[in-house]
Amino acid sequence: MAGRKPFVGGNWKMNLNTAEAAAVASAIVSGFKAAGKVDVVICPPFPYLAHVGSFVKNSGVKLGAQDFYFADNGAYTGEVSLAMLKDVGASVVLTGHSERRHVIGESDVLINAKTRAALNAGLEVILCVGEKLEQRELGQTDAINAAQVCYGLAGVKAEQMSKVTIAYEPVWAIGTGKTATDADAQAAHAAIRKVLGGLYGSSIADATRIQYGGSVKGSNAAGLFGQPDIDGGLIGGASLKADEFLAIVNAAAAK
Ligand code: PGA
Repeated sequence: MAGRKPFVGGNWKMNLNTAEAAAVASAIVSGFKAAGKVDVVICPPFPYLAHVGSFVKNSGVKLGAQDFYFADNGAYTGEVSLAMLKDVGASVVLTGHSERRHVIGESDVLINAKTRAALNAGLEVILCVGEKLEQRELGQTDAINAAQVCYGLAGVKAEQMSKVTIAYEPVWAIGTGKTATDADAQAAHAAIRKVLGGLYGSSIADATRIQYGGSVKGSNAAGLFGQPDIDGGLIGGASLKADEFLAIVNAAAAK
C-alpha cells in the first residue's frame, strides 16, 4: 500500500455532553496502544474541543474539528475561525462532510474555500466525498466522487497534499447500518486515487490516504481496511463508544 500509514477519525457529530465527552476521550486515550502503526483523530462538537483537548494532549491522539469558517476573523455571527481551533489545540479539520453538503447546504465553492484556508493555516484536512443512493443507482458514483475531489482540491498545491486525506463516504451508508461491500468500496477508492493521479501525479496519489466512512464497526473494519486502497476510516456512530472505536483503530493498525 505504498507505505501509507492508516488513519482513523472519530466524528462525534452533534452528540455527547461534557461528562460523556470526557469519559469517551479518556477511555480512547488510555486504550490507544498503536501510535506507531495508525494515526487517530477525534472530532468533538465545538463546546467540548478544549476540554477533550486536555485529555488527548501528548497522547498521540489528535484533536480535530468538524467545521469552521474560512475567514480570519470578523463579523461572522455563529462561526469559528481556524486560528481559534489552533488556539484550543486542534490540528485536523473535516471539510465536505455529507451532512454539511446535504443537510446544511454547503456548496462545492464553500467547501473548496474552507479546504484551502485550512491548508494555508497549516492544518490537516479530511475532505469528504461520496455519492447519494440515486446517483449510485444511476452508475454515477465515480463521476460524483471525481467532481467532489476536483472541486474540493481546486487551487491546492502539490506540496500541501501531504496534509490532505480524502474520506470516501457513500451518503446512503452514513448512519444507516448499510456498508458498501469491501469490493465496491475498494473500486471507488481506486477510482479516486486515479483522479488524484491525474491532478498531482502518481507519487502523490500513491501517498495520499483515502479513508472509508459509512457504518464502519469493529465487526466490518478489518474487511474494509484489508482492501489495498482503503487506508483507514472516518467513523461516526461507532466513535461514540470507546471500545468499539478502539476495535476499529486496532483493525487499521493491523493493516
Ligand atoms: P457513521 O458516520 O459511521 O455513523 O455511518 C460516518 C461519518 O459520517 O463520518
